[in-house]
Amino acid sequence: MGGISIEDVSVSYAGNRVIERLSLTIPNGSFFTLLGPSGCGKTTLLRMLAGFLPVESGRIRFGETDVTETPPHRRDIGMVFQDYALFPDKTVFDNVAYGLRARKRDEATIRRKTGEYLERVGLSGFEARRPAELSGGQRQRVALARALVIAPRLLLMDEPLSNLDAKLRVQVRETIHDLQRESAITTVFVTHDQEEALALSDAIGLMRAGKIEQMGPPGEIYAAPVSSYVADFVGAANVVAIRLAGGVEAGGPARFRLANQDIAARAVSWLNEGEAWLLARPEDILLLPTGSGSGLAATILRRQYLGSRTHYRVRLGDDGPVLTVECTGADHARFAPGESVEAVLEPARTLVAPR
Ligand SMILES: Nc1ncnc2c1ncn2[C@@H]1O[C@H](COP(=O)(O)OP(=O)(O)O)[C@@H](O)[C@H]1O
Ligand SMILES: [Mg+2]
Repeated sequence: MGGISIEDVSVSYAGNRVIERLSLTIPNGSFFTLLGPSGCGKTTLLRMLAGFLPVESGRIRFGETDVTETPPHRRDIGMVFQDYALFPDKTVFDNVAYGLRARKRDEATIRRKTGEYLERVGLSGFEARRPAELSGGQRQRVALARALVIAPRLLLMDEPLSNLDAKLRVQVRETIHDLQRESAITTVFVTHDQEEALALSDAIGLMRAGKIEQMGPPGEIYAAPVSSYVADFVGAANVVAIRLAGGVEAGGPARFRLANQDIAARAVSWLNEGEAWLLARPEDILLLPTGSGSGLAATILRRQYLGSRTHYRVRLGDDGPVLTVECTGADHARFAPGESVEAVLEPARTLVAPR
């Protein structure tokens, strides 16, 4: 069976375009994350995949099957929502068994499968409880077991970790990761949290105003963002306004002046002469004692010691831009505010993107 394909799909609410001619292929068995800020259309795209929202134009295929007109209950989908959406009056067992009963499985199979999935999410022994008698993390585990027990064709999750506190979020995230890898059920996961996206995904589609701005594996999105929007949304990035004296080819070296010094960087795409953005991750900038001779003249403005690392605010030149720099390793806190240093922007990891 092939994967999930969304082909040139547009969706509107009352004439207001929210998804704009979006195309996307999700390989079978993979964990795909839609990442983006609130309001960019993630939930809309998920509801469209589930069949709750009609498309205005375009097609949706699950493998060879065109499901564009297929109603939700015939799409064979498991869903997990931010607010759990459990049946409040049913026990944990009956919540998880629900999909199997709806599919008219025999009672022995229902008991075995439900028990198996409750064990997988770490809730054996909770069968008789009601949702109100569970913590948030436990409720989301029930929702996860309920979605997976039917072995759906596609698992959709809409910000399932957002209502959990930081520690639980990491625990349930690990459970989701393990269960998806074991079951190999094709999954579309929606989040606005870049760390979740990086930790869980085979591929990320970063959304901006109803379109996919960049799609790729986490390492590629992080290391090779195609725009300042991506660099800024995924991880931390210094984004600095610069001017290019001439056009630059995609991937080619871009040379420019900043704070009266020469800088070399890599162009993320074809660039015209004129205004552009310099993108540099805090951990990709190296600080050296002044006099080393290989970096740009800079001054430490502020130091934040964070135990395993130190964050500095550093001004380039006398009146240049202020950059955030993250130092790790031995002696990471060795520079003091007011100290002159050299900042090395490694050309391969320093990017220039269109403005
Ligand atoms: N039922 C609706 N009716 C009208 N507009 C909606 C509806 N649901 C969402 N929208 C609008 O569509 C856009 C995308 O919303 P949504 O898909 O919920 O974004 P996200 O999940 O990324 O936060 C937003 O501008 C939102 O206001
Ligand atoms: Mg949403």
